[in-house]
Amino acid sequence: MTEFDLTRRQLLKVSAAAASSAVVATRPATEAGAATSAAPAQATQPATVNVLLRVNGTDHQLMLDPRTTLLDALRERLHLTGSKKGCDQGQCGACTVIVDGRRILSCLTLAVMQEGHDITTIEGLGTPKNLHPMQAAFVKHDGFQCGFCTPGQICSAVAMLEEVRAGIPSHVTADLNRKPEAGNAEFRERMSGNLCRCGAYSNIQEAIAEVAGVQR
Ligand code: FES
Ligand code: FES
Repeated sequence: MTEFDLTRRQLLKVSAAAASSAVVATRPATEAGAATSAAPAQATQPATVNVLLRVNGTDHQLMLDPRTTLLDALRERLHLTGSKKGCDQGQCGACTVIVDGRRILSCLTLAVMQEGHDITTIEGLGTPKNLHPMQAAFVKHDGFQCGFCTPGQICSAVAMLEEVRAGIPSHVTADLNRKPEAGNAEFRERMSGNLCRCGAYSNIQEAIAEVAGVQR
């Protein structure tokens, strides 16, 4: 399933909420008539939907505006602020999280679309006392400076290595009939969606190469 797939139930939820918002918004003009049409518009609460999110192995029941992105739900409602909002439009990778084993940009998906899926954020990968191997490698190789892009880089790198192991080709895979070779060319290409303003790229590559067990 891709990040853009909606189940029928999720689609109905979003549609119903949007329709009710439209009805509320237009009611003064269509029902109240000319006598009241000059009255100031009443502020209306946005419609909300009930969403069950499974994040880092824990279920969270949330009432959300159906337009809430997964990134905003994680940061603003669940206070999991590891995932960062860099651009909010799919260009920087700072918001990368792992859903059902695949990396996605949480700023480009609605929270309601991820109901029933397994979401892993940087907070769920490891703990300060028990780091994920990729986290430990980033520390060892100084794979960051300011650290803003780092949670997205690490989530992306973890899922990226799984993509290589699963044989999913990239733009630099030479032979599409064979499994891609785990190496720096593949890693650089596959990590190109994660930008680092500090330019820690070479150290990031060293960390990834170590976890993958290849020579840098
Ligand atoms: Fe999602 Fe930049 S914040 S890609
Ligand atoms: Fe600063 Fe990447 S470490 S943006």
